[in-house]
Amino acid sequence: MSKTSSQVDLIREAFHYQSRFDGSTMVFKIDFPVTRDPAFSYLMKDLALLAKTGFRVVIVPGAKERIDEILEEYKIVSTYKGSIRITAGAAIPFVEMAAFDVATRFITGLSADQEDAVIGNFVRARGLGVLDGVDMEHTGTVDRILTDSIERVLHLGMVPILPCIGWSPSGKPYNVSSDEIASTASAALGAVKLFIISINSGIQQNKYQIPKSIQVGENQRILRMTPQEAETILSLNQTEKTEDPPLRELRLALQAVKAGTERVHIIDGREEGAILRELFSNLGAGTMIYADEYEAIRGLKTSDIPGILRLMEPLIQQGNLVRRTPEQIQEKKADYAVFEIDGSVHACGALHDWGGGQGEIAALATDPAYTDLGLGRRIVHYLIHRAIQQNMKRVFVLTTRTHDWFEFLGFRECSLESLPPVRRQHYDHNRKSKVFALQII
Ligand SMILES: CC(C)(COP(=O)(O)OP(=O)(O)OC[C@H]1O[C@@H](n2cnc3c(N)ncnc32)[C@H](O)[C@@H]1OP(=O)(O)O)[C@@H](O)C(=O)NCCC(=O)NCCS
Repeated sequence: MSKTSSQVDLIREAFHYQSRFDGSTMVFKIDFPVTRDPAFSYLMKDLALLAKTGFRVVIVPGAKERIDEILEEYKIVSTYKGSIRITAGAAIPFVEMAAFDVATRFITGLSADQEDAVIGNFVRARGLGVLDGVDMEHTGTVDRILTDSIERVLHLGMVPILPCIGWSPSGKPYNVSSDEIASTASAALGAVKLFIISINSGIQQNKYQIPKSIQVGENQRILRMTPQEAETILSLNQTEKTEDPPLRELRLALQAVKAGTERVHIIDGREEGAILRELFSNLGAGTMIYADEYEAIRGLKTSDIPGILRLMEPLIQQGNLVRRTPEQIQEKKADYAVFEIDGSVHACGALHDWGGGQGEIAALATDPAYTDLGLGRRIVHYLIHRAIQQNMKRVFVLTTRTHDWFEFLGFRECSLESLPPVRRQHYDHNRKSKVFALQII
């Protein structure tokens, strides 16, 4: 594919997502260490850009490390119950100072890009009270997110910032976890996405036990997972690394998805442009936990035909595929299946019935930008399943360059004579394709 056409594809993908999410609310939970990274100013630039182009951006700053620093500076010792900090009466003014200091960094960052923002008392909180005989003092939990106030700020075109402080109805301040604020605010505001942004590298395949079914991209990154897969990863890795930051982020993501946010993205805030790539391209730059219909294999619709012809063209030119006209594809439409990711087709294949219990898997193609992600394999498995449902006994392929791949999937080379007679008559002797078959019954 030429550089220009891949750039055009990228722009198409970006427009697709822009129109899909335009006007929707997105919550960004951003840890304090990100604000000290050189990439922070780019992150603010990108958030300002999103806010200007019609996305409703809400920011929840994490302040844990800044609170630690300020308490240490003022020689106030923190005690904990498990992993929860007990915020004593003497500490709460300093916790407020830290929370607002961090929130102000976001105002500063957004101001540099001419985007207005408001730090507000958007969280109604109540105290955790006495837990197992321990008075949690000024440590609180979210009672209610004041969505009306947040909506008013959004309506004025400004970015609401929710520091990790909540107030009781009588005005008593509580230190509330920013994770909890982020997940409850996402649910309360009906956010389509929650972004969890930190300086952790996320869940990588080489560091954790990951089920084989989960797709892994460049740098061992898990591209996406369902809530069930996230649960499996958490339970597989529970014993050794329960409080490990990437696992904690995954737990937060799962909690938010369960609370009703359809997509949660875990992003490394040190990577320039990561939010834009995650938002505007299918492959993204982080890990997405999704509860909605994100990808599916389905039958071909007439409106898919131009898309699959585009997808096949470079493979035809490389000699991997036989050229088909739109009319030929339309005629055999029922034989085709496509792999759709977020509304666009990225792989296809067909199963043609030649009678005698034999089916041919053909027209198999994966978008060159989406290879090695298991799309081809899943299409083949889908077509084999279809063949079983149609009472076929054997599926075969004619291939010039992909025999190793089919062999890996269990197909074995066989003679031309083993093909149904009618298919043999159509065999192109100039192309000299090899025949590989898989016995399914
Ligand atoms: C063959 C094809 C469909 C595979 O698509 P895909 O979505 O990348 O496949 P998967 O992700 O399921 O599998 C990728 C694996 O197969 C390997 N692979 C891909 N093409 C291969 C080939 N021609 N020979 C051997 N192995 C191959 C990859 O290296 C990768 O290995 P890994 O999992 O160890 O990293 C794709 O490469 C393609 O469109 N080829 C051109 C068209 C074609 O030849 N079609 C078959 C004729 S019907």
